Amino acid sequence: MKSLSYLNKYFIKYKWRFLLGILFIVISNYFGVQMPLYVKTTIDSLFVENPINGIQDALILSLKIGGVYMLLSLGSGFFLFLTRQTIIIMSRLIEFDLKNEIYSHYQQLDATFYKKNTTGDLMNRISEDVGQVRMYLGPGLMYTINLIALFGLVVFQMIDISPSLTLFVLIPLPIMSFLIYKVSSKMNQLSTEVQKEQSMMSTIVQETFSGLRVIKAYSKEKETHAKFNESASYYKNKSMKLVFVNALFMPTIVFLIGLSTILTIYLGGLKTYDNSISLGGILAFILFVNKLTWPFASVGWVTSIIQRAAASQTRINEFLRTEPLVKNPTTTPFVFKGKIEFKNVSFTYSNSSIQAINNLSFTIHPGETLAIIGRTGSGKSTVIDLLMRQFDIDSGQILIDNQELKEINLSDFRDQTGIVPQDVFLFSETIADNIRFGATNDEITTEQIETSAKKAAVYDNIVAFPDKFETLLGERGVNLSGGQKQRVSIARALIRNPKLLVLDDCLSAVDTETEEEILSNLKNDQNLRSSLIVSHRISSLRNADRIIVLQEGTKVEEGTHAELIALKGHYAEMYLKQLTEESSEDNG
Ligand SMILES: Nc1ncnc2c1ncn2[C@@H]1O[C@H](COP(=O)(O)OP(=O)(O)O)[C@@H](O)[C@H]1O
Ligand SMILES: [Mg+2]
Repeated sequence: MKSLSYLNKYFIKYKWRFLLGILFIVISNYFGVQMPLYVKTTIDSLFVENPINGIQDALILSLKIGGVYMLLSLGSGFFLFLTRQTIIIMSRLIEFDLKNEIYSHYQQLDATFYKKNTTGDLMNRISEDVGQVRMYLGPGLMYTINLIALFGLVVFQMIDISPSLTLFVLIPLPIMSFLIYKVSSKMNQLSTEVQKEQSMMSTIVQETFSGLRVIKAYSKEKETHAKFNESASYYKNKSMKLVFVNALFMPTIVFLIGLSTILTIYLGGLKTYDNSISLGGILAFILFVNKLTWPFASVGWVTSIIQRAAASQTRINEFLRTEPLVKNPTTTPFVFKGKIEFKNVSFTYSNSSIQAINNLSFTIHPGETLAIIGRTGSGKSTVIDLLMRQFDIDSGQILIDNQELKEINLSDFRDQTGIVPQDVFLFSETIADNIRFGATNDEITTEQIETSAKKAAVYDNIVAFPDKFETLLGERGVNLSGGQKQRVSIARALIRNPKLLVLDDCLSAVDTETEEEILSNLKNDQNLRSSLIVSHRISSLRNADRIIVLQEGTKVEEGTHAELIALKGHYAEMYLKQLTEESSEDNG
């Protein structure tokens, strides 16, 4: 339960709504309690002062009772409406705030966190867990306050009529609360299982859709169907159980309400012998008991809501307390001049214990292009991740313009960098939006978008589409080829006029001719201070100022293209191999 105290700050934020809501609940219940009291006084007066004389009297009396009852109901209902307008709306506002808080925290966390948590978990935090918490903030609180207000008002009146009868008729109510708590907990548990299985089923279906070609090619339809069928049967069985428990719910309540009513009539009837209760008193009691049953029923339900909310909030808190490993250390502006230095840098991935970088040193001077070449898994992408501070290094130093990377303004540095990752990611938006995404300011002209597309040698491809730059990408739109995606991604990096350009093997699906065009466009870029090009293809980097050959995280060779060829080491070997491959491709 302690976890829910995290939400107190929101109660303070919305205190007026909350207090008003409590006031409305009390007023609504006040009207509600007047109804049985009115019935009591009217009925009692019939027997004492003015008994009914003829049909006319009876008609007037019933009209009077009906009218007053209606007015009181209207009053009670109106304030109930206001209660919902305040408390339920407050719960929605807090839900909104909490979702935003979680979302902005997601964005601060780094790659290590995302390696540890699955997408499903992260989605659950922001949708399901917040939903559970909202149930506590809205209905949970509303029914609890309602019960307290009503109980206070009603019990006071009941004791006034007959203290001993009050005691007897109230006994079944807590028992009912407990039973309903048990039933709701079971229902919640089952519905969680049903929901889980449902998302399992959607995952299976989704994978079937996206892997349809593979499934058909391997003629695995039967197996896939069997897998789906298994999940669907499990879902069916759990749902049946849920229906069964659900079906028990209402009868239990109705039975217990009936029990209370019968008890009231029986015991009340006994009491009329010695005139310790009037007929109107018994009637008022029955009405009071009926009023109390629903709120008492809700106790059980609310208890299980609160338990679930507490569990959800514990998960949310746990995650909100996760500190990002990489933090921006300063707000001092940083202007990049072009020098990058790695000094004896080593790095091991904590989750896989793979030492990806081993005692690596290199320097990029202002105006230079450094290239890194190496096999898959040699640590090239890790170098880039370390440079962009996705992870912090274990030992050694990374210096940017002779300052420790850890000490400079990280967001400024990232703002001045254009990075094209190895696995390009494009949003399901238009091509123009995807390129615009890279911009650091909001005022981007169509011309600027076109210019960067031209530099990335993708302009001609884009204008060939009927919708040109407004072409929609993704599931509902056009699927670009691998090379086109890479080039749109390059255009996205170029539109921010980066001072540092980082290309991570992002020309692999581009033919050599287009690649050369892009590289020569980059050479002429006035704004660029330095570039880091990662590739496993020599054509991409032969013109770089310096080339590093990486092998299992260690630098094994360094030099210009010509120097490395002359060295006749790994680089020269790779070069020869790629030359023969290329010529055999040309011939074939
Ligand atoms: N996020 C990660 N967690 C754990 N190990 C990783 C991670 N990323 C890469 N590695 C490992 O680190 C090594 C270097 O990977 P990487 O830098 O991606 O190489 P390259 O880009 O040269 O293909 C590989 O052995 C890889 O398995
Ligand atoms: Mg890589």
